[in-house]
Amino acid sequence: MTDRIVVTGGAGYIGSHVSVSLLEAGKALLVIDDFSNSCPEALRRIEEIANAKIEFLKADLANPALAEKITETVRRFRPSGAVHLAGLKAVGESVEEPARYYRVNLNSALTLVAALEAAGAKRLVFSSSATVYGDRSQSPVSESAALGPTNPYGRTKFFIEEMLRDIARADPEWKIANLRYFNPVGAHASGRIGEDPNGVPNNLFPFIAQVAVGRRDKLKVFGGDYPTRDGTGVRDYIHVSDLARGHLAALDYLAREKSPGVIDVNLGTGRGYSVLEAVAAFKRASNRDIPYEIAPRRDGDVAEIYADAALAERLFGWKAEKSIEEMCADTWRWQSANPDGYGR
Ligand code: WQD
Repeated sequence: MTDRIVVTGGAGYIGSHVSVSLLEAGKALLVIDDFSNSCPEALRRIEEIANAKIEFLKADLANPALAEKITETVRRFRPSGAVHLAGLKAVGESVEEPARYYRVNLNSALTLVAALEAAGAKRLVFSSSATVYGDRSQSPVSESAALGPTNPYGRTKFFIEEMLRDIARADPEWKIANLRYFNPVGAHASGRIGEDPNGVPNNLFPFIAQVAVGRRDKLKVFGGDYPTRDGTGVRDYIHVSDLARGHLAALDYLAREKSPGVIDVNLGTGRGYSVLEAVAAFKRASNRDIPYEIAPRRDGDVAEIYADAALAERLFGWKAEKSIEEMCADTWRWQSANPDGYGR
């Protein structure tokens, strides 16, 4: 019996890699995406890589006027579960536009839950984030660490996790995995799909890649005086293809477990790299210079955070395998083959 999975945000950066992994594992997909941070070309390339067709609905899950159409489309797809990735995800933007972040991210999750309930498909993998830990936990951070998001984006992830916990408490048929991503980077080894941020990249890797390919003059390193080995911020970078495999492992775990309830699981490598170490690795992988200057710290940044990744391996039998060198080489292959991303 083919696993039929709804993937919201399935045309996006993380979503396109998750969709490829699920298709290659033989699952049938209904992708729901509004193309606010993705495009039809990404869908075409997902089908090209996986040599499989996707069912697709262009819709904004946060638009109440579309809730009935979304529910009907999901019901007709006869899903066995879902991966929920659609949402707004820029920390800085969330500080400027909190009401929009709460409206979009929380409404999207609630619309999907209602559609899955109507379809009798109570298996859900949710794209959560390490930002729910905030800046109070010592690294390596385990899932039992105190939560304390420090920005509206992180709070939407925290609130959705709590909503899902309440929903599962009221109806034990729900099987839910909150996957707490650390820093997803890289691109599919084919170089055909990758990160294509709108406007100036907020995140380190796409910015470095755009400097390497000549779209940006130089990198600003936000802070050179942190209490870390070289003074720059340390993060747990995880290859997006490893992350995608983690979603497949979580879905299959929920399918075979009788009553897992709601599980919170880190998806990280368990080791951190500093900004300057990432720059050096990217220079080696691209053989391009990456000019940079040390700039003031960015508000909201923590000095160092990396995962305790043991639970995912214990529960799912999954762990990240790709090195920082592969993360850089695959990013560079995508960026150099697609200097303007998907050309949106
Ligand atoms: C990484 C390091 C910066 C850009 C964010 C979100 C998180 C997740 C991943 C959604 C930090 C430094 C960055 C630059 C720099 N997104 N940096 N110059 O902030 O760890 O996490 O993205 O889920 O929720 O919070 O990632 O890539 O922005 O920063 O020096 O131009 O690179 O200070 O040390 P971050 P990042």
